[in-house]
Order: sequence, then C-alpha cells, then structure tokens
Amino acid sequence: MKKYLFAGNWKMHKTQKETQQFFNEFLSKISEIDFSDREIMIAPPFTVLPIVQKLTEGTPIKLGAQNACWAKEGPFTGEISPIMLKELGVEYVILGHSERRHLFGETDEIISKRVEGVYKCGLIPILCVGETLEERKNYKTLEVVGKQLFEGLKKLEKIEAKSIVIAYEPVWAIGTGINATPEEAEQVHLFIREKLKDIFSKEIVENIRILYGGSVSPFNIKDLMKKPNIDGVLVGGASLDPYKFLEICKIRVKKEICMLPDYSAIPFEILEIPQKYKNIVIVGASPKSERPSYIVMEYLLKQGFKVVPVNPAVKEILGQKVYPSLLEIPSDFSPEVIVIFRRSDQVLPIVEAAIKLKPKVIWMQEGIVNEQAKELAEKENIKVVMNKCFKKIHLMSQKYLFK
Ligand code: 13P
Repeated sequence: MKKYLFAGNWKMHKTQKETQQFFNEFLSKISEIDFSDREIMIAPPFTVLPIVQKLTEGTPIKLGAQNACWAKEGPFTGEISPIMLKELGVEYVILGHSERRHLFGETDEIISKRVEGVYKCGLIPILCVGETLEERKNYKTLEVVGKQLFEGLKKLEKIEAKSIVIAYEPVWAIGTGINATPEEAEQVHLFIREKLKDIFSKEIVENIRILYGGSVSPFNIKDLMKKPNIDGVLVGGASLDPYKFLEICKIRVKKEICMLPDYSAIPFEILEIPQKYKNIVIVGASPKSERPSYIVMEYLLKQGFKVVPVNPAVKEILGQKVYPSLLEIPSDFSPEVIVIFRRSDQVLPIVEAAIKLKPKVIWMQEGIVNEQAKELAEKENIKVVMNKCFKKIHLMSQKYLFK
C-alpha cells in the first residue's frame, strides 16, 4: 500500500543543541502518530545527521538529506556523496528544491544528474518542482512544472521510478504564509500524475507519491490532504517546531470522494485565469450537466466568478440568464475573459464579435483553433489561451454520463 509521506525540510536551521531539544519534545509524543498509513521523515542540515540518526534509532522516523552529489566520491569540493548519506541511515534526498534552483543556480541538467546518482545508490530522490509567481501569472505553471519534471527524471530508466517522490512546491507559497489552495494544488498534482504517465507505466505512476510543499501548517494540512492526488507534504517552517510538526503528522487523512463531475478535469488554462478577472462569458454554454461547458460554468460560479452564458437555443443555465449572442449581453457587463466552446468553423465570427467587447483573454480549444481568429485577437492585444486538456475533460464528462 502506498503510504503518505509527511516530510520536514529543516533547511539551514538548528545547531546540535537545538536538534537535541527538538527531538526531546517530538519523540516524547510520537506515540500519538498512527504510522500504519504514513511515513514521517525529517531532513536536517548535514551537520546534525549523525545526531538525528542516533536520536531516531529504533523509531519509525525516517532520515532525509537536503541535497546530494551524483558521484560516489571524487573531486567535488563542498558536495556530499549519496554513499556517505546512506552510511548515516539517510533514506530520502530532497533534490531540485527551489532554493537550490534560484539561489544557487542549479539547472535541470545538474538536478537530473543528482536524481540519477542518488537513485543508483539506493536512496529515494524527492524531486521538487514549482513555478514562480510571475510564471503563474503568465499561465506558465504547467509548462514550467512539466519541463522540470521531464528534465529532472530524464536519466532514470523507465522501470526505476517506483520509489521516486515528487514535491510540488510553488515558489510563491514557500515561506510566505500563502499556501496554494487545496484545489490549486490538486490541479497541478493531477497534471503531474498525468505527465508522469508519459514517462513511466500507469501502475508505477499510481504508486508515486506527490507531495505538496509551501506554507503547510497545522491549519491547512487537513484540507490539503483531502485531495485525491496529494500523497503527503514537504514542510519547511512548521517542521522546525516539534508541536506544530506533530500536529501536522498526526492529522487523520480523509480523502474526498470525488463527486462527478470532477472539477479536476476542468481545463487547466481556465483554472489559471487570474483571480483578478471576475467577469467571464461562456459562448456555447450547454444546459446539459455532462457537457464540458456546463461543468466549467458550474465550477466558475462556485469559485465566485460572474458568468454570463451565450447560446441562441437556451434561456437559462444554472439560474443564469442566457443571451442569444455576444452582441446582446448587457452593456454594463464588461467581460474580461471570453471562453469559446465552439467548433473551428464557427470560431472566426465569434472572435470578431468578441474583440468588440475588449476582453483581456479569449480562451479556445487547441486543435480546432482558427489561426486567423487567433491573429485577429492578438492584434488587438488580447491574450489568446488554448486549452490542451479538452480531450481529458471530455472523457471525464463521458464517464459521468455513463455512470
Ligand atoms: P515553508 O513550509 O516554510 O513554506 O517551506 C516549504 C519548503 O520549501 C519545504 O521544502
């Protein structure tokens, strides 16, 4: 059975004395943790690894390191070999943490070498991925995460991935007190799981643990762990306090039963519509609850967006008045995002009408997109977003239909 992983990343914190103090408190309470469905891991600085090894001997606490070299030994000043870590009882190694990437210039290439080296020595790499705030605002989250994932794992043999762990740590959530919402995290976790299936077999991927990291606290852990694709957490600040970390590790995990229609199937690009855009028009909104446009509309309404549906054949959807065309929506409603659920041969006149409303973003499905329509919108400085996951949402809605 796949066990959850609750991991603490101490970063550059704690002297020997402070480490001793932490474990005095933490170990006196670990009987409160139910280890049957989870592992607890702490990754302290290298300097206290031997102490932590001694202190945790005979307990279920696992030991982690915060980085490792790809080589077993050699002229690598300042680096630590995975073999040396193994000798100290280390089982997990955090790699590609955003602080390594952004403060110390570690590239995907270096990280992939570390992942391979650590794996080959029999340790478990925890590969960290995550986007910056700037990247998120520019709809780049999935592109960035997908690339880091693919590059980081490229040196592993297909079959080898069984025990790897992935940690999704959005950079904007690290140490800021602003965690990704469980829904935001779940979307990316689901995306990571789907991406991993491009690299490894489905059975392996189902067993890979995907952790969330970024301002995890005793207050948000319960809701985060409810999400089906969140298999654990990587905790920074809160893992330094034995009581806070204990509260996190003790939490009873109750997974949400996925109610279909499943919002995880909402096209990611729609979910990445920045929250500052509140007014959304859906062209081609369907009154049928199994249709993607209906699922998207329901989701957006629940998220507090103001949604105006457009469809000449329908009067009302989800309690919202439906307008027959873009030209007829009330003039006091200025749409910031126009989502088009229409076949490509119908897109051009819709985009022409949409441009007149001066939205910030026009969204359409990839594959059916009319290049001319796209160019037209971009000429007016309107951002055009293409949905790549339409097939998936369609499949999910089919599943709902036939359930
Ligand atoms: P915080 O929990 O302090 O936000 O840090 C997260 C992190 O970087 C864990 O690796």
